[in-house]
Amino acid sequence: MCGIVGYVGKKNALPILLEGIKHLEYRGYDSSGLVIGVHSNLKNTDIFFDKSVGKVSNLEAKVKKSIRPKLNKITKFNSQIGICHSRWATHGIPSEENAHPHFDCNKEIYIVHNGIIENYAVLKAELIKSGHKFSSETDSEVIAHLIEEEKKKLKGRVRIEKAVKNALQKIKGTYGLAIFDVNEPEKLIAARNFSPLLIGIGKGEYFLASDATAILKRTRKVVYLEDNDLAVLTPRGYKIVGLFKRASKRTPQIIDWNMEKMKKGEFAHFMLKEIYEQPESISDSIRGRIDYKNNKPVLGGLQLIKKDLKNIKRVIISGMGTAYYAGLLTKDYIEELAKISAVAEPASEFHHRKQIYSKDSDLFLCFSQSGETADTLSALCDAKSHGVLSLGIVNVVGSSISRTTDAGVYQHIGPEIGVASTKAFTSQVVIGALLAVLLGLEHKTLFSHEAKSILDEIKKLPLKIGKILEDSDKIKQVANNFQKYNNFLFLGRKYNFPTALEGALKLKEVSYVHAEGMSSGEMKHGPIAMIDSTFPCIMIIPKDSVYEKNISNAEEIKARSGPIIAIATEGDNTINKISNETIFIPKTLEIFTPILATVVLQLFAYHFAVARGCDVDKPRNLAKSVTVE
Ligand code: UD1
Ligand code: GLU
Ligand code: MG
Repeated sequence: MCGIVGYVGKKNALPILLEGIKHLEYRGYDSSGLVIGVHSNLKNTDIFFDKSVGKVSNLEAKVKKSIRPKLNKITKFNSQIGICHSRWATHGIPSEENAHPHFDCNKEIYIVHNGIIENYAVLKAELIKSGHKFSSETDSEVIAHLIEEEKKKLKGRVRIEKAVKNALQKIKGTYGLAIFDVNEPEKLIAARNFSPLLIGIGKGEYFLASDATAILKRTRKVVYLEDNDLAVLTPRGYKIVGLFKRASKRTPQIIDWNMEKMKKGEFAHFMLKEIYEQPESISDSIRGRIDYKNNKPVLGGLQLIKKDLKNIKRVIISGMGTAYYAGLLTKDYIEELAKISAVAEPASEFHHRKQIYSKDSDLFLCFSQSGETADTLSALCDAKSHGVLSLGIVNVVGSSISRTTDAGVYQHIGPEIGVASTKAFTSQVVIGALLAVLLGLEHKTLFSHEAKSILDEIKKLPLKIGKILEDSDKIKQVANNFQKYNNFLFLGRKYNFPTALEGALKLKEVSYVHAEGMSSGEMKHGPIAMIDSTFPCIMIIPKDSVYEKNISNAEEIKARSGPIIAIATEGDNTINKISNETIFIPKTLEIFTPILATVVLQLFAYHFAVARGCDVDKPRNLAKSVTVE
């Protein structure tokens, strides 16, 4: 998720917060905001507060007028405290109301939050019942109101950290939190569960940051918070206590990374970072969306149109590039699991051709990470203008496509920065599978036990991807061995036909070599003429229902001296006899082999491009989201 910066000390907090949050801009965000408390004496705290949609420079321009002149007038103060946030919306559109900080009913408790509060809807309903007024649509705001409620219960002289502790016992979800209460104007509270947060140690001043880059200019001495930590920072020191049990002892560390490296954490490139994030991003995409007790997907975004899904007789799927390939795979899932006829087409073709729609029984489903892809938006508008029900599978909340569709499912995977899409693809495919299962159950074409085996396997995918990532040295070695080749054919069949297309696209995008993806069966009808010892084939060849057919294709290539890199299933002892190199993926359901194989192909493209000296994060000629047709 996005960024947090906090300060408590004797300096002017405003420039420290703005400078810090700007260092987190690389993560992508949609709005930002800050609150500063100036403590002049024990009874008097002045509060300065502002928020803005869009770039941090918008916030900066606003506070220049709204806060800075007033702050500059205060020359004598004991201390200042401030919290600042850049938001990447998960709950509620990017807007000024939804930007952080959020506050309680009395505007006394201010919070900024990274992460997701999963049970916020229930908590919010209870709080509203007991009289709380909410000012945003976010999940985060419940935290401020919960703390207010806990403070009321504790009565008398309450310490804010006690109220925070009690409030957090009620919360389910992930958080990095910075909190302050105007009644205790020298105390900055921090808490962490899953979302990163660290304390920066200065002289008579302390910092909070979700990423060390934000405070590196101020101090290099830091303490990383761990899950279930609660910390209290004042100008005189900091202490870490446990939320649920005593916190372990922490020793500060000195950071000596250079800035560029730090932004990507331990990874050399965003692309690699995002490949490695996939166990987590898939978990984020499915969190709360599977009812394991009743073996059903729970897609909240489709709740309102669920009754319309029963009437669907054809699904039209569209998208561009990687998102289109996720759509191609979803088409197979829908046909196989829901027995509904489905077509998939790149949006740029779709919207120029004459379309024959059936208004009452067609469903238009589009895929886009950014939600701004111009071609996809045009195709969507065409379908909508004919009255066809439209759904989106989109990552960026509040984007054009998500606003234009009748309903949809957000991916909830955080910003994808690498130009070559990786984590967005695997998440889209998993959501596509959930949708297909839902349609299968609605149309009564899928038995509950079949749904169960698919949903159970989805849960295991993060672990299986983790295994591929752990063994990635082999993939790197193969990529290095093949770095001199200038042409590649990617082959796969059935579910792995889209995988072949995606593998070839990844390689083209980041290494600029010629790569073609096609179905294994198609190869014989022409392309095989290209094959010789200088033209390797990457074959996606798991142990599935088309394994034997694929083996025959591999033999045909081998007979023409084409080098073969096979992506095969663990335990396949015969493939080595045909292939020059084999990379194994864990066993999984046939429908999910593309997800595991794609992770291998992403790593192959990455290491291949790095070996050839290409800048994988800034591939020539490409833009992250293509907003022109
Ligand atoms: C929603 C909240 C989620 C919360 C859950 C709890 C948002 C963005 N999501 O998730 O954080 O945990 O309720 O009940 O606030 N939509 C489109 N087109 C798209 C994508 C989404 O119209 O391309 C719409 C959906 O139909 C829905 C809304 O956006 O109305 C949110 O979608 P999604 O986040 O997928 O819904 P939930 O999973 O229910
Ligand atoms: N879930 C919160 C929101 O949507 C926090 C998002 C973030 O981490 O930026 O406002
Ligand atoms: Mg793309």
